[in-house]
Amino acid sequence: MSPSIAQRPGSPREVLAGSDAPAAPTRILLVDEDAAARDAVAAVLVQEGYVCACARTSEQALALAQAGEFHLVLCDVDTPRQEGLQLLDRLRADQPSTAVILLTGRGDTEAVVEGLRRGASDCLAKPPQLLDLVRAIERALAKRRLELARHRYRTSLERRVREKTAELSKALREIESAYASTLYALVAALDAREHETSDHSQRVVRYTLAIAERMGLPAADLPDIARGALLHDIGKIGVPDAILLKPGKLLPQEWEEMRRHPEIGHTILRSIPFLEVPSRIVLAHQERWDGRGYPHGLAGEAIPLGARIFAIADTLDAITSDRPYRRGGPLEKAREEVRRYAGTQFDPRCAEAFLSLDGGVLEALRRPDALAAAAGGSP
Ligand SMILES: [Fe+2]
Ligand SMILES: [Fe+2]
Repeated sequence: MSPSIAQRPGSPREVLAGSDAPAAPTRILLVDEDAAARDAVAAVLVQEGYVCACARTSEQALALAQAGEFHLVLCDVDTPRQEGLQLLDRLRADQPSTAVILLTGRGDTEAVVEGLRRGASDCLAKPPQLLDLVRAIERALAKRRLELARHRYRTSLERRVREKTAELSKALREIESAYASTLYALVAALDAREHETSDHSQRVVRYTLAIAERMGLPAADLPDIARGALLHDIGKIGVPDAILLKPGKLLPQEWEEMRRHPEIGHTILRSIPFLEVPSRIVLAHQERWDGRGYPHGLAGEAIPLGARIFAIADTLDAITSDRPYRRGGPLEKAREEVRRYAGTQFDPRCAEAFLSLDGGVLEALRRPDALAAAAGGSP
């Protein structure tokens, strides 16, 4: 027999299944090899207002299920080679929102238990009593509606979490960008006061990052190192103009005042949570590998790595940049200086990384438009 669909004309029982089309009639697929038993149950179901389709085999049932969604499948499990259970598995996999009720004429407890374990809603003895059948169907449909509602709720929750996460990430990026712009504006003001050009601090950021990357530092450490390099001389805000801008040599007490700038910078920055690590680089940016720097005379690895790298970047920029009283020197001169003072002024490992950098790369980093090319260049 070929599969068939039957529906009592007139007033089909209608089940509102969550967001299913409103007032859609409940569609039931009946699967049984026994034509007489199948037709008897189908007739009862149609009489009760359900839309009913019949299939003799699992293949027919699957073909019908794929062609149109059923709310529920009534499936005989007394089949050779456990076809009923296999059909149940396929339906659970392909149409998880379809409820399945098992029917058994032999009372095959093992198959029934296995079927319930695999997700069937219920099991009825054949031939089912009308009341038992309708109750089992309504129970299964109610459970199905609940599962669908849960699924929709979970899906909408997941979507909202995704949307909120995206919004938060965007807000975070905007805040970071606002931080970066603020820091750059602050440093540009400082550079303008001392250097008459706003690019000194930005160049040392690029050089510092290039050396740090050459040394293989984790990408997560780079933003802090970049911020430390950018803000290294922020403490000069606290140095009077008469000393900072003095054209001639500084007197000893003026030097003393000038040498306070790492600690002033550290004090300004350390209470700002996202600048706490950079503030330690600022504090140590005038230290030397051999311990003859200031303010604390730290030596070797007691100096934060970011500050050791920065020391080379600052020297590179000091030698290669133009000053009001002289033209900037060639890159080779800076290389020579770093080579000569590796192990005394500079950390030899940082010096080695710097000396291994390609000259063309360093020349490119000197240009004002090179900022975007420096990894993590935006502090
Ligand atoms: Fe400094
Ligand atoms: Fe500087």
